[in-house]
Amino acid sequence: MKVFSGSSNRPLAEKIADKLNLKVSGLEIHVFADGEKRVRVIDRVVGEDCVVVQPTSPPADSNYMELFFIIDALKRSGAGKITAVIPYLGYQRQDHIFRDGEAVSLEVVVETLQSTGVSKIITFDLHSIKIPELFKIQLVHLSALSLFAKKIEKDDSILVSPDMGGIRRIKEASALKGNMPFAVVDKDRDLATGEVEAVDLEGNVKGKTAIIIDDMISTGNTIVEASKLLLERGAAKVFVFATHPVFSESAKTTLQNSPVEKVFVTDTINVPPEKFFKKLEVISVADLIAKNIR
Ligand code: R5P
Repeated sequence: MKVFSGSSNRPLAEKIADKLNLKVSGLEIHVFADGEKRVRVIDRVVGEDCVVVQPTSPPADSNYMELFFIIDALKRSGAGKITAVIPYLGYQRQDHIFRDGEAVSLEVVVETLQSTGVSKIITFDLHSIKIPELFKIQLVHLSALSLFAKKIEKDDSILVSPDMGGIRRIKEASALKGNMPFAVVDKDRDLATGEVEAVDLEGNVKGKTAIIIDDMISTGNTIVEASKLLLERGAAKVFVFATHPVFSESAKTTLQNSPVEKVFVTDTINVPPEKFFKKLEVISVADLIAKNIR
């Protein structure tokens, strides 16, 4: 078996390879002056099972194209079964039509991905339970909740979903922690601008440590809005666990200056040093991925 890395999360690829007692294999990714990429496999792969690690986090378009080219280069070089480890699947929030006239971007991406001849995909905490149905090839859908559960203290705490869409996730987390109580924030999102507002709360958080669990943090506004409401409703402290650190725009400043005590994320997406902040802790998913590759 050989493990290859695209350019979006080499540290994770190295950790996974290490857990499999392998080194990341040679791949040349050249970016031309016009931004186009040329991908070339250096190591011999004839008949070998190959794993490509490439979360399609921002810049999603560029990372997807790179992934398609890597799979194509492996196929043309005679690789056997190809597994794409896409811990964060870009465009997953565009999985259906929200307003008339919209594209279903995720469906386009999934169809293109499948046309490359990849055999298996490993991913994490998809935004909606319906997404796996879009795939006609094997999809291994893993979750970081078991890793989060190990860090969550039950005493005087309550789990919180920052929006109604996260109810399934918060119920799963609650079950993992022996039916821990949970609350749900009612969040409004403007479909045109993307702006969010936490309008109400179902559940009693008074005097408790509120533990928000979400699939991803992009701008950080969902977390800030939810934590403000939780504190207004009497929560003593707020902690956050989110699988994917998308961290767009000024998420770093937004989260560091927020009333949240600590933000736990995973390394499904690489957090470069310039996006790091004091309240942040990163938990690795490498072991979970390696176990599903072996
Ligand atoms: C939305 O439904 C998701 O589960 C996340 O809550 C959302 O995508 C986070 O985005 P942001 O950090 O920009 O508010």
